[in-house]
Amino acid sequence: MQGQKTAFMRPYVLLVAAVAALGGLLFGYDTGVISGAILFITKDFALDTRMQEFTISVVLIGCIVGAAGAGSLADRIGRRLTLFSAGIVFLAGALISAFAPEETTLLIGRFVVGIGIGFSSVVAPLYISEVSPAPVRGGLVSLYQFAITLGILGAYVVDYALAHGGDWRWMLGLAVVPSLILVGGMIVMPESPRYLFKVGHDSRARDELQRIYGSGSAPAAEESSIRESLLVKAGGFEVFANPAVRFALFIGIGLAVLQQVTGINTVIYYGPQIFQLAGVGSAQASILAQALVGTVNCLSTLIAIFFVDRIGRKPLLYAGLAGMFVALAALGFAFAQPHLSGSLSDIALASMMVYVGCFAFSLGPIVWLLISEIFPLPARGIGMSISTLSNWVGNFAVSQFFLTMLHSFGTPATFWIYAALCLVTIVFVRTSVPETKQELLEKISVRAVA
Ligand code: BGC
Repeated sequence: MQGQKTAFMRPYVLLVAAVAALGGLLFGYDTGVISGAILFITKDFALDTRMQEFTISVVLIGCIVGAAGAGSLADRIGRRLTLFSAGIVFLAGALISAFAPEETTLLIGRFVVGIGIGFSSVVAPLYISEVSPAPVRGGLVSLYQFAITLGILGAYVVDYALAHGGDWRWMLGLAVVPSLILVGGMIVMPESPRYLFKVGHDSRARDELQRIYGSGSAPAAEESSIRESLLVKAGGFEVFANPAVRFALFIGIGLAVLQQVTGINTVIYYGPQIFQLAGVGSAQASILAQALVGTVNCLSTLIAIFFVDRIGRKPLLYAGLAGMFVALAALGFAFAQPHLSGSLSDIALASMMVYVGCFAFSLGPIVWLLISEIFPLPARGIGMSISTLSNWVGNFAVSQFFLTMLHSFGTPATFWIYAALCLVTIVFVRTSVPETKQELLEKISVRAVA
């Protein structure tokens, strides 16, 4: 325990993880900020409904493209340079969007921002996972999710603060600040020791491992497990011929898709609309309620940071998914009543908070963590790319079809469908996902289901 604490407290490792987590901050900010900005963009550029929807969703198309390319790029030019490139892309996207003279340029800017998000959603957790000592890896990768939630909350606050002047250019442009810090930070951050071993720079890799552990003594064991993992001599997609690697991919895609189809982004993207359905009077009150959702999302992630390496990934997943199930079932129940008023609307609001709070310490951080852990080194870049790509496709599908689902199935049934998918996720975790707590990254075996 003492060793764990020392490793976690090592400022060097914490700093490296925090700089990489800026990729998460930008992910959260850039996906969250559009909900407020769109009102004013619509006015300035006279957008019809179809163009409004496209302005919101074009970022997700960029995310899919970015995530698809990020893994092989990270295998080719390294983790550090890929994250550095993500920073440059974020910077370019923010500037293009903020200065867009008309709608087409804005769409290009938002697409570029999406590519940045796609890059960083693959490489930030991958990099953090690869530079973290095993005993604290879960907490450090969860820091990335914490940064996502901070970014989402920051976006709500910025949108709220700038709403009176309708300053959408500032809303989108402020992402320049964390982008610059990410770019500057990645110039001085180290390369992942695992990547260095992979490309044969052994002595630099050993130095890096030593810096990560400080005076501790893990590097020898760690080095030999990394070397063993590299014995699988296959490059690119060939490595997926191995059944164990294919099974890891099945787990990665499964977790990534389930993280989305259990409905989180209906609340993150459409929160104010749901609050209004639940009887919250004014638009102002809905936005305030949304800020509360953002705060719960952020604070509850701390539970994962502190406990994921102590009690493990799977117990937290079970607890969070059970809470999400109950909250969604209650939300459906509240909406199933003929008149949603008084205590029923309180139940609906409380259910949404519980739902987000439970996601934030389980499926939120732990999916990113597990997909950064389950692939052997030769398959890690591409495996994470494909899993993350599936996450963005799931995100796109849910956010596109949520309103249609409400109209076709009704509000209660929509939330019950998400509730049922939480049960499916519990079964998936039980039957397919290994516990990875405290394991050296290269010792994790996907066949070992605890
Ligand atoms: C998910 C996002 C979601 C966010 C909410 C992330 O882990 O991938 O889709 O918006 O959590 O905090």
